[in-house]
Amino acid sequence: MQKYRFYREHKYVSHELNDLERKIAKCDFRLQTEVEKLHQQFANLKAMLESHAEHENVGIHELLRKKGSRLHEQCESEHKKQTQELSNILSKFESMGPLEDEKQRIEHGHELYLLYRTFIADMLRHLNDEETQIMPELQRLCSEEEMRSVDAKHYAVMSEEEVHHMLDVLSPHMNPSDYEFFMDDIRRSRGDDS
Ligand SMILES: [Fe+2]
Ligand SMILES: [Fe+2]
Repeated sequence: MQKYRFYREHKYVSHELNDLERKIAKCDFRLQTEVEKLHQQFANLKAMLESHAEHENVGIHELLRKKGSRLHEQCESEHKKQTQELSNILSKFESMGPLEDEKQRIEHGHELYLLYRTFIADMLRHLNDEETQIMPELQRLCSEEEMRSVDAKHYAVMSEEEVHHMLDVLSPHMNPSDYEFFMDDIRRSRGDDS
């Protein structure tokens, strides 16, 4: 039986961050249609990251607050910083639209690339800190049942379609033991074989 461990979805988060970094790196910024595609992908990523951080603040960190630990405070202030940085990157995408001069567009695109690359460098460090600092603190202070209750609340009220959609999104980024753990967690929470 594996130790209860949150953050397995970070493998998916890391994939999404890196996939967009590769695309921005290769983008022909002279073409607004190319920029628009990445702008849309970034907007989707931004929404996913904000909801991920919210789930951590409200669900996971609540366990630590109840135990009197303050280890999550640094993480929460990083979440605030990330929200600001995501807005800055979004503004950089938006301000590309009206630019007509090719040299200006290329220069602006390079600034956008560097801004995004710095952002994901910090994000990858943040994901690592959650797994190497927050997770051991949770395992030290909380029972498995307390930890299991965080995601169980969500799994219990999801429709079959929502569960399958979530599995379709996450499973390509998991190894077999992550997948086995994840399926077991969902089944226990729902009391069925979804
Ligand atoms: Fe986080
Ligand atoms: Fe996270």
